[in-house]
Amino acid sequence: MEKTGNFQADIHDNGYEAKFLEKRLDHTSLLNLAGRMADGLESLDGQWNFAADWYDTCKRANWPADSAQVSGGAEESNRPLDYDWEAWERIPVPSTWNLARRELLYFEGSGVYTRTFRYTPRSADERLILRFEGAAYRTTVFLNGVCLGTHDGASTPFNVDITQTVARENRLVVAVDARRLPTRVPMENTDWYNYGGLYRNVLLLRVPATYIKDWFVRLERSSACSKIRADVWLDGAKASAKVKLSIPGLGVAEEIQSQDGVASFTIDAEPELWSPTRPRLYEVEISTDNDSVRDKIGFREIKTTAHDIYLNGEKIFLKGVSVHEDHILMGKTTNSATIRATIRDLKEMHGNYLRLAHYPHDARFARIADEEGILLWEEIPVYWAIAFDHPETYRDAENQLAELILRDRNRASVIVWSVGNENADTDARLTFMSELTKKVRSLDETRLVSAACLVNHEKLVIEDRLADFLDVFGVNEYYGWYDPDFSKLPQLLANSNPGKPVVVCEFGGGARIGQHGSTDDLFSLEFQENLYKKQVETLKRCPFIAGTSPWILYDFRCPRRLNRYQEGFNRKGLIDSDRSSKKPAYFVMRDFYRELTP
Ligand code: GCU
Repeated sequence: MEKTGNFQADIHDNGYEAKFLEKRLDHTSLLNLAGRMADGLESLDGQWNFAADWYDTCKRANWPADSAQVSGGAEESNRPLDYDWEAWERIPVPSTWNLARRELLYFEGSGVYTRTFRYTPRSADERLILRFEGAAYRTTVFLNGVCLGTHDGASTPFNVDITQTVARENRLVVAVDARRLPTRVPMENTDWYNYGGLYRNVLLLRVPATYIKDWFVRLERSSACSKIRADVWLDGAKASAKVKLSIPGLGVAEEIQSQDGVASFTIDAEPELWSPTRPRLYEVEISTDNDSVRDKIGFREIKTTAHDIYLNGEKIFLKGVSVHEDHILMGKTTNSATIRATIRDLKEMHGNYLRLAHYPHDARFARIADEEGILLWEEIPVYWAIAFDHPETYRDAENQLAELILRDRNRASVIVWSVGNENADTDARLTFMSELTKKVRSLDETRLVSAACLVNHEKLVIEDRLADFLDVFGVNEYYGWYDPDFSKLPQLLANSNPGKPVVVCEFGGGARIGQHGSTDDLFSLEFQENLYKKQVETLKRCPFIAGTSPWILYDFRCPRRLNRYQEGFNRKGLIDSDRSSKKPAYFVMRDFYRELTP
């Protein structure tokens, strides 16, 4: 039935979303933004018109198709329209609507954003790309009444070529559905706050007809740090152009002919290796006759043996802590200053490593970690009871993983890709997550693959069938908190011989700032400090533990945590949600890490 817009016909079709899912915005079209110069980028951040669309009426009635004219105001129509683009309230992009408007704190439906923009091409064959750095969760993009496609996933970037749809004057409408659903990734039950909206940057990118879409520059895996491998992908009709790679700091300047849009270089070079103590980055320029990108890349090697992790041939201990992308004032939106403050808090505890839980954090994190010399574990939200037997769920998880890896695989700071967290060891889960580990290795042969696994509590041993597919065995244990019998931790370690390095991705317990009591009083600062002392004393004696990232650096919003000490927050932080009040347990970790060799 032809859509009449806003009338009876629209309210009886519950399959209304199918047409918007025909075109997926996913990793296959993702371009590497990291090296683009400012003159080709135009920010669309700022105040957008917004409405909380509780019943998803924008898509049910296909408002954007109904109102192709740019203004789209109810006052201009002789029909009783239910939308009114320019009359709606204005909301900042980027932001989480939950914290932008008090009345939207618990809103998890569809938010509709809209704005206009002008565009004048600089050349006849210029292409225009619309890019979103992150939107939670299902994002459907409309330009001038045309549906450009839909992206799933709350924490990874996506883009769409709008060259054929863009005009001089444009109406952009973006519907962002933040619902938690059983088949999504994560599913509807998590231990963090479900923020919604266009919470990361939105921008336009001008590129030539054939442009440099992606590149991956790294040490050749089997080269003993003496060869650099660089792959460059072009997009466009002239994808057989010559491609030049230059790394002035290494005296590299090579030019080769691309084949079917791909140019692969293997170059003898012995770069100064990137490390936390010496985070050396090299200027890398990639160019064709009509496009160029510049990136800053560190070269390093990460490997494992039966018990240990080696960075550039030297054994390291990952002196870390876990961290959520959750801020008391900004929610899941962040900025460079906040990222640098997080790294400062890590360095003050003599840490060298962060577990960015449980989803891809802002792209700036790995960029700044490259500069600051911090190692990172990055993860996709295959969290708890995912619908492991649902094909669409696998497609979604694999796409988020691919978007994360394509976004960050040129960042030296990233050493581990994690395919999930705390998933029961079932056959469906083993198939689902082992496939994800294969996807990682197909996109990046240089980094370690891991997951935060559960211990086998019945047998009191560190084992998980997924471990056969992992380089590092991540494990979460809460002895002394969820399991009060702390004596099980040394028994667990004595019973285990996982045959690969183990990183304890989580341990800890809650404590509220100002809450004092004995070491037996749950949620007291003394209880948490004593728990940390016992954990550290036990973990440091275990030869196959190659790192720790206790849970967690900062208290964070969490709708599941409703007792008098938590009040809607998970209070396992070493620092309060104010990101300044340190708890005594913070100093237990500081003393532990300070004693360890660098
Ligand atoms: C789990 C989970 C975390 C959660 C933590 C807790 O291990 O991985 O996301 O917040 O434990 O219970 O506080």
